[in-house]
Amino acid sequence: MRYYIKTFGCQMNVYDSQRIADILDNMGHTPVSQIKNADIILFNTCHIREKAAEKLFSDLGRAEIIKQDRALEGKETIIGVVGCVVQAENEQISKRAPYVNFATGPLTYHRIPEILERIARQKNICIIDTEFPAESKFDYLPENHAHGGCAYLAVQEGCNNFCTYCIVPYTRGVETSRPIDDVINEAKILVNSGVLEINLLGQNVNSYHGEDANGKEHNLAYLLNKMSEIEGLQRLRYTTSYPADMTDDLISCHKNLSKLMPYLHLPLQSGSDKILKAMNRRHNTAQYLTVIEKLQNANPNLRFASDFIVGFPGETDQDFEATLKIAKQINYIQSFSFKYSRRPGTPAAVFPNQVEEKIKQQRLAVLQDELFAMQLKFNQSCTGKTMPVLFESKGKQKGEIFGRTPYMQTLVAKGDVSNLNLIKNVTITSGGMNSLAGTIINPTKVL
Ligand code: 5AD
Ligand code: SF4
Repeated sequence: MRYYIKTFGCQMNVYDSQRIADILDNMGHTPVSQIKNADIILFNTCHIREKAAEKLFSDLGRAEIIKQDRALEGKETIIGVVGCVVQAENEQISKRAPYVNFATGPLTYHRIPEILERIARQKNICIIDTEFPAESKFDYLPENHAHGGCAYLAVQEGCNNFCTYCIVPYTRGVETSRPIDDVINEAKILVNSGVLEINLLGQNVNSYHGEDANGKEHNLAYLLNKMSEIEGLQRLRYTTSYPADMTDDLISCHKNLSKLMPYLHLPLQSGSDKILKAMNRRHNTAQYLTVIEKLQNANPNLRFASDFIVGFPGETDQDFEATLKIAKQINYIQSFSFKYSRRPGTPAAVFPNQVEEKIKQQRLAVLQDELFAMQLKFNQSCTGKTMPVLFESKGKQKGEIFGRTPYMQTLVAKGDVSNLNLIKNVTITSGGMNSLAGTIINPTKVL
C-alpha cells in the first residue's frame, strides 16, 4: 500500500513520524507525496494548543472527501490518527470523525502493524488504542533509517514537571529514559548511514537518566560525552531542556565538547516570578539568569532560544513587562511565543483571572515585535562571517539549497544537490528575519 503522513507539532512528532515511516517501509508499504494517491492516510497530531487540534479536524474533513472520491473509483482508504490528540480526545475523534479507522497514542504506534492486519481482516472497524503500555515502544521499532545528514534521536519521553498549563504529562505520560546502549547503537547506525548531526530529543531531555548495561543510571552530560566519542558524528544538539535541570556537568559539556553546537533552547515561559510560580515551574528568573551566565562562561559563543507564554491566568501588565525586560536582557536569537491556551484537564484551565483574548493578542504582538527584532539583528550581524553549514535539502528556487548554521539559522545558497548532506564553509552575504543567504566556499559544483 501507499502511505502519506502529515505531521503537526514538535520535533518529537517529526521523529515519531519518521519512525512510523520506518515501520510502514518495513512492512513493504511505500510513501507518496500526494495525499489523494495514498491508501493509508496518517495524521500525527499535537494537542499543545487549541489551534493544533482544530487544524487536525479540518484536515480530517478533507481526508474524508478524498476517501469518498477514492471509494467511487473502487479504492479503499485507511485513515489513521496518531499522537497527543488521540490520548487526550479519543472520544472527540470518534464523534467528530467517525470515518477514522484507527487512532493510537504517542506511546503505542509500534502496534500499527497489528492494527493494519486487524483492519485488513475486519473492514469498517475503528480501533482506538490509548493505553500507557508497560513495554517501551523503542524495543519494538525497526531500525531508525537516516533521512539525510541530520537526524533526531529520542532519548527521553514524557514529563514529571506538570507545569500547570501543559497537557504533555497527560498525553506522553511520566518521564522515561532509554538505556545508554540503545541510544548509542541507534546513533552509530545513523552515522554509518551518513548522518553528520544528531539532535537528542526529549520533552525534558536534560532530566535524562538512562541505564548502562550494568543497570547504573547516567545523566545527559554522560550521554553527550559518550555520543561525542562516536567517530564520524560531527554535530550534536539536545532539546528541549528544563532550566532547573541544567546541572553543572551538563553546562561543562558546552565548554568541553567541540561537537556540541553553540545554540541552546532553554524555555523561560515568563519573566515574572509570580507567574512562574503559578505555572509550577521549578525556577525563578534569578535562577534562570544564573544558569544563562554559567553557560555563557562555559562557552562565550553560546546563544539562546526560548519559549514564552503570554496571557497566563493572572498575568498583569507588570508581569508582562517583566517578560519583555528579561527577553531583551538575554538577547535571544530565536523564540517561540504563544498565547496561553486552556487545555482541558490541566490545573490552569480552571484558574481564576483568565486573561481576555484581546489582551493576549496585544501582548503577543508586542513580545513578538521584540523577539523578531532581536532575531533579525543577530541574523544581520552574521553578514561577512564564515560558518560551517550542513546542507539538508533543495531550495524553493532551482539551483538553490537549504542548510543550517551552528545557530540553527536556515541558510540559502546557490549550489546543486551534490552539496546535500555535507558540511560546507559558507560566507554569509545577508541576514533576514527567517533566513540567511551565503556563498559556499569550494562548493562541489555551483550552477
Ligand atoms: N498554552 C500556550 N502555550 C503552551 N505551551 C505548552 N502548553 C501551552 C498552553 N497550554 C508552550 C510552552 C512550551 C511549548 C512547547 O508550548 O511554551 O514550552
Ligand atoms: Fe510541559 Fe512543563 Fe513538561 Fe515542558 S516541562 S513538557 S512545558 S509540563
